Amino acid sequence: MSETFTTEESSRPATGGDAAATGARRADGEGVDGGVGLTALLVAAARAIETHRHDSLAQDVHAEHFVRAAPACADWPVRVAQVPEGDDNPLWGRFARYFGLRTRVLDDFVLGAVHDGVRQVVLLGAGLDTRAFRLDLPSDCVVFEIDRAGVLAFKQRVLTDRSAAPRAKRVPVPVDLRADWVTALTSTGFDPGAPSVWLAEGLLFYLPSRAETYLIDTVDRLTTGGSALAFEAKLEKDLLAYRDSAIYTATREQIGIDLLDLFDLGPRPDSAGHLTARGWSTSMRTPFDFTRRHGRGPLPEPNDALEGNRWVFAHKPGS
Ligand SMILES: C[S@@+](CC[C@H](N)C(=O)[O-])C[C@H]1O[C@@H](n2cnc3c(N)ncnc32)[C@H](O)[C@@H]1O
Repeated sequence: MSETFTTEESSRPATGGDAAATGARRADGEGVDGGVGLTALLVAAARAIETHRHDSLAQDVHAEHFVRAAPACADWPVRVAQVPEGDDNPLWGRFARYFGLRTRVLDDFVLGAVHDGVRQVVLLGAGLDTRAFRLDLPSDCVVFEIDRAGVLAFKQRVLTDRSAAPRAKRVPVPVDLRADWVTALTSTGFDPGAPSVWLAEGLLFYLPSRAETYLIDTVDRLTTGGSALAFEAKLEKDLLAYRDSAIYTATREQIGIDLLDLFDLGPRPDSAGHLTARGWSTSMRTPFDFTRRHGRGPLPEPNDALEGNRWVFAHKPGS
């Protein structure tokens, strides 16, 4: 099945192989220097900061190099010591720690699946995720990285400049997840007949609701027993009610990213319930559960933009 989903503000064409080939940014904002692509750099900066913490939850030696290579974030910090208020800064303190915790939790999820024998990893909205380079993956593992062409072209340029070598086979799949991404994935060697582990980390709330439903249906269709999926959801009914929260305000005012402007604000599908109805075993956790487990990370606060965030872990039973 081939479908394309758009929102009113994003009704531009959705694919862009030329940009991948040339490394050029497309005029429609497909690179990392604006729009939703810039959020990939926000997470990279957070991971750079996390990497250099004395009590780091996740290490990513490539993260700061993405930040330094992009003119759009030349003055962003890559160490918490570079932030005048340090951890009291809502963006580079609490929010960055949130991304560090999320990285660690999903690292563990992928490694758990690989430990159970899965050899295909699919990163949906991969952004500047370097799990193919960082994680202790077996060499017969394949990591498929799906994102828009301009984002993956920037990522490749930085990694090539660093002569970075992946630990597993890495397959960039430049495609827009509002378009027919199934053909793009399966034509690069993904095998629906073998178990796979999928991540949608910091992605679904940027997609139109129908694209999310299509994504979840498609993951179900392309997976066999023994596969796993983790994704992040936001349960708030009205995201705009948190517009003045410390995190959204700091992100908007300090680095010019208005997350609420990038999120799709329409009603969200119940993707966890959908998977459960299809026989998957699912569990839903708050980030704060993992803060308590690891002894570090964000805790609830008043008017909290993270209040509705949930991490969903789903497993498809083996046949
Ligand atoms: C917040 S970043 C998260 C990146 C990565 N998963 C991580 O956690 O580091 C969101 C990513 O989703 C990607 N994205 C958003 N909408 C997309 C779409 N329609 N198709 C493909 N990728 C998309 C963006 O380009 C960006 O890289």
